[in-house]
Amino acid sequence: MRVLGIETSCDETGLAVYDTEQGLLAHELHSQVAMHEAYGGVVPELASRDHIRRVVPLTERVLAAAQCRLADLDGIAYTQGPGLAGALLVGASFANGLGLALGKPVVGVHHLEGHLLSPLLATPKPSFPFVALLVSGGHSQFYAVRAVGDYTLLGETLDDAAGEAFDKTAKLLGLPYPGGPALEKLAARGRHGAVTLPRPMLGSGDLNLSFSGLKTAVLTQVRSQALEDQRRADIACAFQDAIVDVLQAKALAALDVTGLSRLVVAGGVGANQTLRHRLIAAARDRGATVFFPDLQFCTDNGAMIALVGTLRLQRGAGDDYTFTVRPRWALSSVSATGMALSPS
Ligand code: KG4
Ligand code: ZN
Repeated sequence: MRVLGIETSCDETGLAVYDTEQGLLAHELHSQVAMHEAYGGVVPELASRDHIRRVVPLTERVLAAAQCRLADLDGIAYTQGPGLAGALLVGASFANGLGLALGKPVVGVHHLEGHLLSPLLATPKPSFPFVALLVSGGHSQFYAVRAVGDYTLLGETLDDAAGEAFDKTAKLLGLPYPGGPALEKLAARGRHGAVTLPRPMLGSGDLNLSFSGLKTAVLTQVRSQALEDQRRADIACAFQDAIVDVLQAKALAALDVTGLSRLVVAGGVGANQTLRHRLIAAARDRGATVFFPDLQFCTDNGAMIALVGTLRLQRGAGDDYTFTVRPRWALSSVSATGMALSPS
């Protein structure tokens, strides 16, 4: 089975072709980061318009790179939610129009399921069951993943997502959007322990997280003295250490609670090298293994959507070319065939 995947939920247009025999054949990505940079964040209307401009040429490119004709496709998968409504509509309408024209099945995919299963594109890949830490710009959640479509939410952030905290803190430090990679770079020049920040919810006794207080603590530090270069780096370093400490402690607790020994880390913040190294070492110390997607598939991409679409189509999913997008959509309402169990 060969599936075209289309991701347009936010500020990346991602296209990919996945084949059940040969794996990922090709993927293409256009990032809108440069376009949104001037505004300090994603402007939804600009995002939708840019997806419209990019989606057809990127489809042609990815098919050429995969040496695949439209007629060779067995199905089309698109990100149905969660995300920006207008941006999602571009991928949804393009996918359904193409599917209808070709007479091929079309399936709407949950964006977070894409992130969650993206380590299956890597080598070695995790086998089920595993604990997943999903840390992106919009979500920070722990799941017990027992099979495709079997996701139990174990805990989540009560306020800001980890990526959001990186982005907001980066802004306070005068760094460009998106803040995560810029803050990581600045933190590398910082001195551990030079600035002290809290570890929110570390002792909460559950798997929930909270990052908005950390951002406020950074603001207090930023305002307390002149923000010369070394101090900016020290604050960035302290912020990253605080987030990583909390995520590491809660990830180990999630392994304890579930009795599982495999941890999957997915989502944009999973690209953070400090987080990666710390989690690998901490897991190794207790005989557990950590799996990450390839760096290029940590942030939004079409490959993870093509992969999940394939798994869904293999399980009999497929829509009748009438579609809706789901800007807000709980992953735990997704069943093994990808149908929503209940409205969310
Ligand atoms: O998964 P993603 O591409 O988009 C969402 O679905 O949200 O995640 C984007 C988030 C942004 O907040 C970005 O700042 C963060 O991931 N991020 C990072 C790094 N690379 C991206 N955060 C920390 N360190 C990084 N290296
Ligand atoms: Zn994402």
